[in-house]
Amino acid sequence: MIIAPSILSADMANLKAEVHKAESAGADWLHVDIMDGHFVPNLTFGANVVDAIRPHTKLCLDCHLMVANPEDYVNSLAQAGADIMTFHAEASQHSHGLIQSIKAAGMQAGLAINPGTPVSAISPLLADVDLVLVMTVNPGFGGQSFIESTLDKMAELDQWRQSHNLAFKIEVDGGIKQETTKACLDQGVDVFVAGSYLYGADNMQQAMQAMRRQAR
Ligand code: DX5
Ligand code: ZN
Repeated sequence: MIIAPSILSADMANLKAEVHKAESAGADWLHVDIMDGHFVPNLTFGANVVDAIRPHTKLCLDCHLMVANPEDYVNSLAQAGADIMTFHAEASQHSHGLIQSIKAAGMQAGLAINPGTPVSAISPLLADVDLVLVMTVNPGFGGQSFIESTLDKMAELDQWRQSHNLAFKIEVDGGIKQETTKACLDQGVDVFVAGSYLYGADNMQQAMQAMRRQAR
């Protein structure tokens, strides 16, 4: 399993130290939540923060764009050193073309779906993406509760992946902690984003190990 702490829950005044903390606790990726105050009611940061943390970590920078115009971010994110650019299917009128642009810019392409969006809305794109992000809360804020009805979509994606011989990763984001990790693992999920659970833990390394134990 891949564990990606979300810096949304980090201390923004000490971001460099918070990145190092995740890396030394055993993180596989770092999840970077970019919000524009339009697609979601919250506003965070943009490519400038990706650029600022890039020299301080070798971890894969997994950028999750909760923005209304994801097309506008491809070049700046690629230049900043993002490894993965994931955009919301609900936000783009030209998802197929955007996936091609992200790859042409040298990044991996991810497609995210909100809790209310079915897998069928993105099935024509599944052969083209590197990652599918199943939102397990409504995007915008950390610390929300996991929405159980999203489990069926993970299973559906895993089945589709097997029956079509595809290799995209399945990622979950929102309300992920030790207890919810197991249920997602059982549906075939590969990547686990956790913000408040990991950054709020007294010992991030132990909290991460508790997640990994669910895989045994
Ligand atoms: C929410 C973000 C998440 C957020 C998850 O819209 O996409 O990445 O950081 O936070 P937790 O793990 O606290 O639910
Ligand atoms: Zn996220």
